[in-house]
Amino acid sequence: MTTTVSTTHGTHNGQLPDYLDEVLAGLSAPEKTLPCKLFYDERGSDLFDRICELDEYYVTRVENALMAEHAAEMADAIGPGCLLIEYGAGSSTKIRALLDHLWEPAAFVPIDISGEHLVRSTDALKKSYPGVEINPVVADFTAPFKVPAPSIKPSRNVVYFPGSTIGNFTPEEASDLLRGMAERVGPGGGLLIGVDLVKDPAILHAAYNDREGVTAAFNLNLLVRLNREAGAGFNLSCFTHRASYNTEKARIEMRLYSERRQSAEIAGHRFDFEIGESILTEYSHKYTVESFGKIASAAGFRTRRVWMDDDELFSVQYLELD
Ligand code: AVJ
Repeated sequence: MTTTVSTTHGTHNGQLPDYLDEVLAGLSAPEKTLPCKLFYDERGSDLFDRICELDEYYVTRVENALMAEHAAEMADAIGPGCLLIEYGAGSSTKIRALLDHLWEPAAFVPIDISGEHLVRSTDALKKSYPGVEINPVVADFTAPFKVPAPSIKPSRNVVYFPGSTIGNFTPEEASDLLRGMAERVGPGGGLLIGVDLVKDPAILHAAYNDREGVTAAFNLNLLVRLNREAGAGFNLSCFTHRASYNTEKARIEMRLYSERRQSAEIAGHRFDFEIGESILTEYSHKYTVESFGKIASAAGFRTRRVWMDDDELFSVQYLELD
């Protein structure tokens, strides 16, 4: 239930964030949701970096190992003179492995929603790779954005999309995003993508409900952020993090559960919570090589190479448009 109230609200600086409409719409839906892209403010990005170092969180560890071990083969598959576009350029460990092996790339275009983060990582990359043209773009990659043309004409365009960020999207949304990437790279273009794999749910449960509670802090930080930036009135001590695996949909579903009946107000809108009612904050879909191949082929991509660890926890895949 949503009620519009006319009282003054919050302690924010008076400027409402541009994501507010999305937040209000999500909290007004029959099942309350919040967009997972809002996780990554400064504190959220730090907490995510800490998640990546957890024993239970195999995702980053395994993908980094795959990049370290197979980047030369990936560079061979991509070929010389490419324009490499990274969607959601976060930590630079993986891209460094690739840039170490790529043959004379025309340019590298990191795209990230956080300007500060991007400037910092681009400066460091420019120092390490003085011969590579690097053209950062601050953008939300789910919305339209322009990629600057490099000074050398590229032989082919390749999107790099690591981290299994694709898992945040439903299969339908993922297909749309892949179609956008297909348009972006054009005929003969490529996609190098990190895709998390279906596995024993116990491993998944541990990875998303870690013992130290870092993932819980990461999840709750959404409310911390809304309290600060949108003057929301979430009572932080009355929400708990829990992630569960939905076998049928092959995805982790992360939620914040209300411990009691309560309400919170954002920008004059009141949202009521029953005991045990939750806010869905993130999906993390898991794929088999086959199930991912299906949604990728709907966008025109054909699987060319797949790199996996021995335990088949995670995959890095190279796909191409015909
Ligand atoms: C960055 C989307 C890949 O789904 O595993 C980690 C985010 N959420 N722990 C994931 C996340 C909770 C992560 N991705």
